[in-house]
Amino acid sequence: MATDAEEIRGLGHSVKRKEDDRLIRGKGTFIDDIRLPGMLHMAILRSPMAHARIRSFDASQAEALPGVVAVVTGDLMAQHNLAWMPTMSYDTQAVLVTDKIRFQGQEVAAVIAEDPYVAKDALELIDVDYEPLDPVVTPQRALESDAPVIRDDKEGQTDNRIYHWESGDKDATDRAFAEADVVVQLETHYPRSHPAPLETCGCVADVNPATGQATIYMTTQAPHAIRTVFALVAGLPEEKIRIISPDLGGGFGNKVPVYPGYVVATAASLLLGRPVKWIEDRTENLISTGFARDFYMSGELACKSDGTMTGLRVSLLADEGAFHADAQPSKFKVGLFHIVTGSYDLPAAHVVADGAYTNKAPGGVAYRCSFRVTEASYLIERLVQNAAYELGIDPAELRQKNFIEKDQFPYTSVTGFVYDSGDYHGAMKLALEKIGYEGLRREQAEARAQGKLYGVGLASFTEVVGAGPHKDYDILGLKMSDGAELRIHPTGKAILKISVKTQGQGHETTFAQIVAEELGIQPEDVKVMHGDTDNTPYGLGTYASRSTPVSGAATAMVSRKIREKGRKIAAHLLEVSEDDVEFEKGKFFVKGAPDKVKTIQDVAFAAYTNFPEGMEPGLEGVTYYDPPNMTFPFGTYIVAVEVDPDTGEWKVRRMVAVDDCGVRINPMIVEGQIHGGLTEGYGIAAMELITFDEAGNCIGSNFSDYLLPTAWETPRFELGATVTPSPHHPIGAKGVGESATVGSPAAYVNAVIDALWHLGVKNIDMPLTSAKVWEAIQAAEAAPGG
Ligand code: CDP
Repeated sequence: MATDAEEIRGLGHSVKRKEDDRLIRGKGTFIDDIRLPGMLHMAILRSPMAHARIRSFDASQAEALPGVVAVVTGDLMAQHNLAWMPTMSYDTQAVLVTDKIRFQGQEVAAVIAEDPYVAKDALELIDVDYEPLDPVVTPQRALESDAPVIRDDKEGQTDNRIYHWESGDKDATDRAFAEADVVVQLETHYPRSHPAPLETCGCVADVNPATGQATIYMTTQAPHAIRTVFALVAGLPEEKIRIISPDLGGGFGNKVPVYPGYVVATAASLLLGRPVKWIEDRTENLISTGFARDFYMSGELACKSDGTMTGLRVSLLADEGAFHADAQPSKFKVGLFHIVTGSYDLPAAHVVADGAYTNKAPGGVAYRCSFRVTEASYLIERLVQNAAYELGIDPAELRQKNFIEKDQFPYTSVTGFVYDSGDYHGAMKLALEKIGYEGLRREQAEARAQGKLYGVGLASFTEVVGAGPHKDYDILGLKMSDGAELRIHPTGKAILKISVKTQGQGHETTFAQIVAEELGIQPEDVKVMHGDTDNTPYGLGTYASRSTPVSGAATAMVSRKIREKGRKIAAHLLEVSEDDVEFEKGKFFVKGAPDKVKTIQDVAFAAYTNFPEGMEPGLEGVTYYDPPNMTFPFGTYIVAVEVDPDTGEWKVRRMVAVDDCGVRINPMIVEGQIHGGLTEGYGIAAMELITFDEAGNCIGSNFSDYLLPTAWETPRFELGATVTPSPHHPIGAKGVGESATVGSPAAYVNAVIDALWHLGVKNIDMPLTSAKVWEAIQAAEAAPGG
């Protein structure tokens, strides 16, 4: 075997992030850094009303303001057949209004000016007379028979229902409930929140009037899919559209949809023959771009008295806003609610889902989650914890009794998913050990005896990520495969072009490490390119933890393809048969003669200088990967809290998070992903909430009203890892980017409920503000027997 002079920093190495050098030195290029010669600026006029007709519209004063170049209206867009656009869920969305307003913040018109401040000032000069209509601000109201029809633009739409969808076996579930000893119920609302990336959305559209080439710099997590949608919407030839997604200041699902601003800026550039920049301000981002969650859920869990869980019933009502715009695989109307049975070997389940239009911004984006699994995971983990109290069984023990066993994998759930691998007992065992569970429960009993409110909450989640296999997954018919293209230069350095787009996850480092593992080229010698449709292979983008399972797999596969060609070249150089050549860590050597060796760098040089007769020169390849299955990361989170009975304030005392995402490419980056997800999970449990008043005004349009956790209130996380490789993935990795946000909110809420259950508090909806917790304690004390 060849010996290493220098260790190859492939899988399992906490390589420092290559991208950070430019980012922390202020040398990144974000959308607002892009300035093109002759560039104009766009500002959008948004509706102050949630539901209204426009009686009159007068932009003459705005047009007269020096520096204003044009005012774009819905009528102008309609003349070019661009007043409406398709959404990612086979619905349509108004680009600029032509008929009526359907949510507060909807795009009414746009001003194009020489200067961004002039564009904003001109908005004030547009005179719009709105005729208010009755707003519909809850999905329950939306489905009442006398509710105003929000989408009267759609032929045949006579009410506000978007979909009705069922999954699982109703009869088997009914039987399980009929035979149950104990049935636990929970009604809960997973509230509307917002991904709120640090950088808002925006674009610079540059349509060249001479060539017809449209280059659009855009804050997008899915540049290739967006290009295809643009080609379909605008009727432009796809090769004449180039989407460049530069450095992104976070996305978290918010930068997946197509927003009207992108379309209007591009149309304006096309019409005016000059580049047009549009950058949202914070309030625009919060009130008009993709929100997340907003599911009203009702769950029931059937159990035997010994704690065996036998059936699950779920019905949910989704508030989708005025346009159904979330990117969902077309086969699964509300995303992957199939994961609703969680980590448990549940023999029967039935899920019913209804989606409704309301007068709110569209969204339902995968805010750091895989489609809608966050809501599903929350519901099952709340139900299981409550079942433990009803049955008088410890919540950890009840979970362990019902977990899918390690030897049951691959496991087909009753809702039809095949979980690839898992060791749920292993993850929980580690979490229990790390937190010292028994000791914690003793402390809790002592604290309670002294009148303190101390709680311990668990959540054992399983996620489903890596969308996805062609047979089941598409967005607007586009199959969810992804690509990787790898070119090894003569000097042995490489350039890897990937179809996914980093928004802070560190792909430039981890994907280089995959190449390092497969070919032995050090990560610093592999330049990773992404986010430019002219220069990267096609793919569906980065969200729902799909980058590593899909494009990461493509990277491993294309490296292996190149390795095989390298083996032929090495055999030629070593003058032996190809079958006699072995490869390890960047070295090709002769079987049984490890000193007869050619490095990958020798082979790369030979690929351009001294290759076998009849072989094509060069060392490069491209691969598209159709994953055979999703991957199923999992984990157990345990939280200990103390609640102040006088104020309702709750403080996290301990938070232990054990995650299993299979083989970790870069443990440091994985831990960073988990820290981010746990912080977001804590934020949702504790404070993040977007509400609306009766008129449909968005409460949560700025960071004083929409609260995000800072380092000050974020708990300290104690992490642990187990490693259960994905059997079908080329490097055994499972996605991880979203798991912690999916898994952790239930752990925090369960901990607070655990502290209060003996008082009679069985449910509080997120976010658990001090006021709400205090009110729940007061109500429990005031109740008979309280
Ligand atoms: O699709 P997205 O990038 O959001 O999520 P991901 O594929 O789960 O990856 C998040 C980050 O963690 C990427 O930089 C991955 O390469 C890295 N990762 C890892 O190092 N090891 C894993 N087993 C999974 C992800």
